[in-house]
Parts: sequence; structure tokens; C-alpha cells
Amino acid sequence: MHVALIGTGRIGAAHAEVVRDHPEVDRLLLADAEPGRAAALAEKLGVEHGTVDGVLAEAEAVVISAATPAHPRLIVAAARRGLPVFCEKPIAADVVDSVRVVREVRAMGVPTQVGFQRRFDAGYVNAREALQSGALGELRRVHALTCDQEPPPADYIPTSGGIFRDCHVHDFDILRWVTGREVTEVYAVGANRGEACFAESGDVDEAAAVLTLDDGTLVTLQGSRYNGGGHDVRMELAGTRATWVVGLDGHVPLVSAEEDVDFPSDTPWPNFWGRWTAAYVAEMNAFVELALGRRRSACSLEDALEAFYVSEAASLSRSEHRPVTVAEVRAE
Ligand SMILES: NC(=O)c1ccc[n+]([C@@H]2O[C@H](COP(=O)([O-])OP(=O)(O)OC[C@H]3O[C@@H](n4cnc5c(N)ncnc54)[C@H](O)[C@@H]3O)[C@@H](O)[C@H]2O)c1
Repeated sequence: MHVALIGTGRIGAAHAEVVRDHPEVDRLLLADAEPGRAAALAEKLGVEHGTVDGVLAEAEAVVISAATPAHPRLIVAAARRGLPVFCEKPIAADVVDSVRVVREVRAMGVPTQVGFQRRFDAGYVNAREALQSGALGELRRVHALTCDQEPPPADYIPTSGGIFRDCHVHDFDILRWVTGREVTEVYAVGANRGEACFAESGDVDEAAAVLTLDDGTLVTLQGSRYNGGGHDVRMELAGTRATWVVGLDGHVPLVSAEEDVDFPSDTPWPNFWGRWTAAYVAEMNAFVELALGRRRSACSLEDALEAFYVSEAASLSRSEHRPVTVAEVRAE
């Protein structure tokens, strides 16, 4: 298969290596709005590069890992050519564009997959199965957190969409996927404790929220762009029979204040790449299978839109200091 990968920044460089090494991929073509960046990565990986239009014309499937504001135009351009599309989350930076893309691409009927890699992480898969099998009993509480050790580069922040649309959209997607429930209401807050670039973009670098699921389950969420201990992503699910925790392995960046506790035993992950390597590989394998017509999408545009609505409600809640229902921000 000939694959075009558009957007060769942080995540694009990582995805490119995975795509290049896939046994079903015999040609990888890179493009970026900054051509020198695509050329440098192409040289490093021993693959081809070209313009965005040029690589689209040569491709049989497309991986979009460009900055978020570029997603709508690139998704639609690829879909108009009938190409299967993998796009990094989120679909777009706002609800209007997200809904427009979902409608346009749905009408074209091309296979699509959005990059919510937590759906391929063993811990979340196990927790979902434990909930479905009844091992947890009836779900009563969820606590989720997503904390980066280091913030993204300052120039990433103004177009990121803010911490809830950019970062916690992962939590909202996986919350729906693991629990099988919809979020009905969000109350979110945020704080600026780090570099000025966050406040200057109307964003925050610390976040917290309380979410209500459609069966009444209460969910708490916390996040940070500055977690000195390391990259920390967890989800605790408490049921009437048991409590399961995703992300509580030897790498968890915690120090017990109790005596004689030698857990965790390993070094914390410094960033998202180490934490999710296996999941990124598995999601790209799934995309190749999707493009070859061998499986259904692991994360449709419609799924991604649902998670985005929760992000939108959280962003509005934070800015207006009030609980916001997801129905209030829904646009279709
Ligand atoms: N799933 C994950 O864990 C994860 C992690 C990081 C980033 N992301 C997502 O991946 C995307 C990229 O993030 P990043 O951290 O790699 O950003 P980045 O800033 O490092 O890279 C973005 C790249 O896109 C290029 N670009 C911008 N507009 C373009 C256009 N119109 N056409 C072609 N290229 C264009 C830029 O030149 C840059 O090279 C974002 O949507 C982000 O939300 C996902």
C-alpha cells in the first residue's frame, strides 16, 4: 500500500516510523506545510517526500498528523479522492468545523479512523472487559487524570484548542469507550500556574472537572501540563465488587509516603511517546486493516465528535464558571 503522511511534527515523526515499518506498506510519502521538515524526516527514515497535493495524488491511504487547524481541510481533501483516512484527534478545533467534516465525509463513505490510541492500550481494554463481564459489579465512581511532565512547545498552544479539546478529549473518548455511557453534564475549572503562553491564549495549564454520566455515575478528572514526577495517565473505576486502575504499573510517577513500600519499581515515562508506544503501533495496524477493507473503524468520526462535544462543554463550563450540559453544545 502507498501511504501519504501529512504533518511531520512531534506525533507525525513517530507515526511515520510505525507506518514505514508496517509489512503491508511498501511506499511512504511525507508532506508538511514546512517542506524542509518533511524532507529532513524523509531523509532520516529513507522514505519519499513531496507537496501535500502531490503526496495525496500518489496515495492509497492517508495519515493526517498535521496541526489541529489543518485537519478539516486535509480530511475532506483525502476523502474527496476516496482515500481511507487516519486523522489525529481532534477532528477540528471547534464544533462547527467538526460537524461539517463529519457530515461531508459521511456522505462520501470513505473509511476513517481518529487517533484515540487509548482504545488500543491493554489496561483500558482490560478495564472495559472487566466492567462488561461484571467483575467490577455496578460502576459507582470514576477518577481520571492526564498529566504531562513537560508542556508542549509554546507555539503549539494558541492553535491547540485549549486543554480540554486538545488533551482531555482523550479522557472523554476513553471514558465513553470503557464505560459505554454518555456524559450528560460537566463542571470544569482551570488554573494558570505555569508559563504565560497558556493565559495569553485564553488556556490553562491545570484543569479539573466533575462529569455526570447518563446513569448518574460521577466522574472526577484532573490534568496538568506540568507534572514534575513524569507523564501520568490513569483511570480508576470503582464498582460495587472491585476497583480497577488503568495506568497503575511500575512506571507510574508516584512515591508512597508509607514506610517499606517499594512500588513503583520502574522509571516514570517522560512523555506520551513512551507511555503509548504499543498503542500507537496497534492503532496504525488497525488503520492499515481498515484501509484494506479487513475491519471496521476502531474510532469513527462520529465517536470523535461525541468526545469533542464533552470537551466543548468543559471549555464553556470553565470560561463561564457554571455546569454545562452536553446537550447545550451539541450541534446536530
Ligand atoms: N494521540 C496523541 O497522543 C497525540 C499526541 C500529540 C499530538 N497529537 C495531535 O497530533 C496533531 C499534531 O500534533 P504535534 O504535537 O505533532 O504538533 P507539531 O506542532 O509538533 O506538528 C504539527 C505539524 O503540522 C504541520 N502543519 C501545520 N499545518 C499544516 C498543513 N496545513 N498541512 C501540512 N502540514 C501542516 C506543521 O508544520 C508541523 O510540522 C495535533 O492535532 C495533536 O492534537 C496527538
